[in-house]
Amino acid sequence: MKPFIRLEATAAPFLRANVDTDQIIRIDRLIEHRRGELGPFCLEAQRFLADGSEDPSFAANSPRHRGAAILVAGENFGCGSSREHAVWALVDWGVKAVVAPSFGDIFYANSFQNGLLPVRLDATEVTAIAAELEHCESPRMTVDLQACTLTTPAGRLLAFEVEPERRQALLAGLDDIGLTLRDAEAITAFWRRDEVAHPWIYRQTEEQLVKKLLILAGDGIGREILAETRRVVEWFVAHRGLRLQLREELFGIDAWKRHGNLMRDETWAAVRESDAILFGAIGSPEYDAIPREQRRVDQLLRMRKELDLFINLRPVRAIEALADSSTLRPEVLAGTDMVIVRELAGGIYFGTPRGIEALKDGDRRVVNTMVYTEREIARIARAAFELARTRQGRLCSVDKANVLENGALWREIVETMHRAEFPDVDLSHLYVDNAAMQLVRNPRQFDVIVTENLFGDILSDCAAMVAGSIGMMPSASLSAPSDAGRKALYEPIHGSAPDIAGQGIANPLGSILSFAMCLRYSFGQPQEASFLEESVERVVGAGVRTRDIVAPGRPCISTTEMGDAVVRELEFAQRSSMNARRDRT
Ligand code: IPM
Ligand code: MG
Repeated sequence: MKPFIRLEATAAPFLRANVDTDQIIRIDRLIEHRRGELGPFCLEAQRFLADGSEDPSFAANSPRHRGAAILVAGENFGCGSSREHAVWALVDWGVKAVVAPSFGDIFYANSFQNGLLPVRLDATEVTAIAAELEHCESPRMTVDLQACTLTTPAGRLLAFEVEPERRQALLAGLDDIGLTLRDAEAITAFWRRDEVAHPWIYRQTEEQLVKKLLILAGDGIGREILAETRRVVEWFVAHRGLRLQLREELFGIDAWKRHGNLMRDETWAAVRESDAILFGAIGSPEYDAIPREQRRVDQLLRMRKELDLFINLRPVRAIEALADSSTLRPEVLAGTDMVIVRELAGGIYFGTPRGIEALKDGDRRVVNTMVYTEREIARIARAAFELARTRQGRLCSVDKANVLENGALWREIVETMHRAEFPDVDLSHLYVDNAAMQLVRNPRQFDVIVTENLFGDILSDCAAMVAGSIGMMPSASLSAPSDAGRKALYEPIHGSAPDIAGQGIANPLGSILSFAMCLRYSFGQPQEASFLEESVERVVGAGVRTRDIVAPGRPCISTTEMGDAVVRELEFAQRSSMNARRDRT
């Protein structure tokens, strides 16, 4: 909103009384036209005759008053509905100030929220000004909000009154939200002091509402992208009432360099205590310099195993604006919306025996073991069936039952559970090789896919091409829900990308969207999750691109700039939704 300080402009008289918001803008015009486009329809019944030509008796149509930015109006201007659109229409038409004996209350308040100055003057003064507008040499006036004065066409100086806060707001170009935000620091400081002074008021809600969020940025681009995600987290804390105990710990190579330990006890304790972890990435050529003994256990896999994060949700959605970033044809991608449910705490990733052994004849032998218990298969299958029920009700189970006993048992358990507990879900089975082909042949056919650990790892990278870039893909790794709450780790599905690490060009959106999943699954705030996801989608829809998703020859932005764009969009969306809410009330 532009500040209103002083305006010298042409004025037009329009002394009719009780001009209501319906006359200012007809309601049916709002169906097809938005803010910014309402000018041609402002006061249309007065400006135009039935045949669409201009009504010469309307002063602002005359050459003398054309283009007027000041309207000199009658009693009770803007009465009727609370519709903010009436003010928008006037502003779109070019009006910056309205002088009248009185205004509709809500119209008056809305004017200040939208940069239009309503000036109240005595009815006799208003009539006198209207007469001057007709007879003086020039129909120009000056409205000075700084001095609270108005200069009439005849050069008379009149004082007017405005409530001090409203005047300040308009002088600064701020609406109510803007004014409040200006004091955000003072408000937060007050709240902190009050919390210390009256802890009993806060104690109970603190315990219930404050979630422990741990950030482990990890290796490579993890640090860069998590810095942006952290800004988004902090934005939700500052502006959306999210209550968090936020902690960040070094992880991976950074932890090794600082502590000589890939996962010191303090970090491990923080991992166990947290309600949710935002994880960046793991992997770096620098691990080669760490003694083999120390790096034997992959710390990410350790967290998955020890926190029992067996449900890994990997949503895959084709974002229309990113159709060009994929190597697949747009018509193949369009409308894809699926979730891959990957078993994450079992299978070949953890099975024993495993390892490389030297054979007597000098050869070597390597073993990995794909192990699942019935119970492990059943619990991931149940999670997938339940998810399918909340979506389109279709589940595709992927295995290699034609070759592996693992697959045969997997299929048997999924089918038994289907008959016994989920007959309403439409279940199908695919062998993993065929599933890989179907994912790129016709991804739209899938709603929910459930599969074991290694297959899920491979298929989800493959499905990333459907989302346009692996940089866009979030994930949630969850333990079983329980009364004590569930453990959860949220990470983008991409790796640490050492080749581009440190250059500030990585895409932070996969990680930011993982935080959206955290809002949904750990903090119980699905509306906030959608609010973030929709904001990210609008950023991408507006053509804002990091290098991985930019069309050839188009400009791209840095990791930080993408973070800026998301925060800006969140700010904007927050303001718009507040305006819309106010408009409805
Ligand atoms: C993933 C990754 C991990 C995995 C690696 C980094 C251990 O590829 O989350 O998809 O294989 O699970
Ligand atoms: Mg992977």
